[in-house]
Amino acid sequence: MDFEGKVALVTGGGRGIGKAAATKFAEGGADIVIADIDPHTAKDTAEGLSALGVRAVSISLDIGDIGQIESMVYEAVSKLGSVDILFNNAGLTRHISFFDIEEDHWDQINRVNAKGAFFCMQKVANQMVKQARGGRIINTASIAGKGYRRTSNAAYAASKGAVIAMTHNAASVMAEYDVNVNAICPGIVQTDMLANILSLRSTELGASSEELKALMTEEIPLGRPNDAEDVAALAVFLAGPGSRNITGQAFNVDGGMIMH
Ligand SMILES: NC(=O)c1ccc[n+]([C@@H]2O[C@H](COP(=O)([O-])OP(=O)(O)OC[C@H]3O[C@@H](n4cnc5c(N)ncnc54)[C@H](O)[C@@H]3O)[C@@H](O)[C@H]2O)c1
Repeated sequence: MDFEGKVALVTGGGRGIGKAAATKFAEGGADIVIADIDPHTAKDTAEGLSALGVRAVSISLDIGDIGQIESMVYEAVSKLGSVDILFNNAGLTRHISFFDIEEDHWDQINRVNAKGAFFCMQKVANQMVKQARGGRIINTASIAGKGYRRTSNAAYAASKGAVIAMTHNAASVMAEYDVNVNAICPGIVQTDMLANILSLRSTELGASSEELKALMTEEIPLGRPNDAEDVAALAVFLAGPGSRNITGQAFNVDGGMIMH
């Protein structure tokens, strides 16, 4: 039970990659905070995790709102006593071609994926400094931030490049507090996010979602897209004792699509 006595806060934890990671943290004995803009999935996920015998609470959070991030950290600590692991994972995107991106698209995506990710990391880091018992921060970036050619849109790629850059900076700052900060760069992950992108693209291109997924899969050297659990497995490693001397890195989980 690597996570016994720890509290893991998972943003975007109501479904997809966040839910998969929260489940693995709970299986390892961590108490869990599920923070999500969708209060229903957050509540359902937290209730499911309570059944594993850990304390699990759900908090409604729009990560683009700094005041809500501060309230979330306060509520998490009031209810569970500390935050030891942050899986900073909430994010959104949709397919938009380069020439069609408008200011609203840019703002909507970067408000959540870049600004929200930064201030969530900052507020939790501040709490970890106060606790003075180290900690782990894992940010969900994307291979979009490393040049993946078929990413959903340029604003999303920029937001995920920002997550990688802020991971490096935070890792340098937080090292003296024994807080490791790393990023995960997933490739194609079979979650609702992908299903929504494929469904829109399929209408635009007149091909089925399955045909589009097959085309995407052809570009993966290992020949298979990720399940959410493939990404969650790395989050668990980066939160656990085996990674105590790893910080400031951005690891791909993508079947070999981007090899740097
Ligand atoms: N699915 C992929 O192919 C893929 C690839 C690379 C990176 N990612 C990244 O992985 C992360 C998780 O994505 P997923 O695939 O599980 O997608 P998902 O859409 O299934 O889950 C995202 C979760 O984030 C929540 N969320 C969205 N906006 C929020 C906000 N403003 N505040 C709080 N919560 C919010 C959603 O309600 C949802 O529960 C995201 O950061 C995403 O960019 C996904």
